[in-house]
Amino acid sequence: MIHDKANHTCDCEPTLTDSQVLDFCREGYLLLEGVVPDEINRRTCDYLEGKIPANPSYIPDGMTQADLERIRASHEPSTIFLEAWFIEHVLLNPQVTGVMRSLLGANVGLPILASHHNVECPSPAQGWHHDADHIFGPELNFVEVFYFPQDTPVELGPTELVPGSHIAPTKRPNEENGVYAEGPAGTIGIHHQSILHRRGVSTAKGRRHMLKYNYWRTSPPQRDWIVEPDFDLQSAYYGGHNQARYVAHMFYWLCGKGEEYRVIGGQAWPWTSPNQIRPSYGFGSVRGYQPDWRKHNQDGYAV
Ligand SMILES: [Fe+2]
Repeated sequence: MIHDKANHTCDCEPTLTDSQVLDFCREGYLLLEGVVPDEINRRTCDYLEGKIPANPSYIPDGMTQADLERIRASHEPSTIFLEAWFIEHVLLNPQVTGVMRSLLGANVGLPILASHHNVECPSPAQGWHHDADHIFGPELNFVEVFYFPQDTPVELGPTELVPGSHIAPTKRPNEENGVYAEGPAGTIGIHHQSILHRRGVSTAKGRRHMLKYNYWRTSPPQRDWIVEPDFDLQSAYYGGHNQARYVAHMFYWLCGKGEEYRVIGGQAWPWTSPNQIRPSYGFGSVRGYQPDWRKHNQDGYAV
């Protein structure tokens, strides 16, 4: 693990394989259960509840002690990123950084802003939503994580996600459930920022802390995660109709080949069925189309 403090980046060996990177492109999330040690989880809760003094490992340029105190007391207590114990065991957690290195390339930009979701349970569910300022597209320039420092079973209202909903605007009735990112203390969920999600309903009594923050790409995309010798771009599973074209585009973009990606539609690649007798037509087409990710620009960005 290389932690470049001056540039606020880290680097390490990637831990995801081709298949796992493709799974992330298709599902839009993955879950690391209980990866942070208990003592650090407790210290995080104590820090967030103001029970332990701050001990920043450095004061960022241009900031004062008063700035740090103000930030710590806000709903965005990003000063926790200055604590040596949090940096070592949470931000630079080897399981997290291995995933980030796989998805975001070399020299991953470390988080700069923490969002603290502090809920007194029991509490009703939020409505389903895509977070503010999301973009639908093949690019993966940053990845969001949420860290639960206490045991977060379904009863304590963990984040609920809708797999595959990061590629297009998605509506869902509030009475329908999703997948719960439940887990023991120290669970870290990793997701595409555009995914449809909400805080789940909680029925237990207690306080639920959750910290949400982003890791950032600083290197152009290339296929430098763990390459599987028998991974076949033509026969890989990219998802169903109106999904596979986007998922494959995202995977190609991550491979550094987003510009050359073309599809010809219908039953052609990247769509596939287990019942066909030969590989899908259309693989490697140089003519064809790129998916229209943004349609009528429902996310509010031009071009
Ligand atoms: Fe949200």
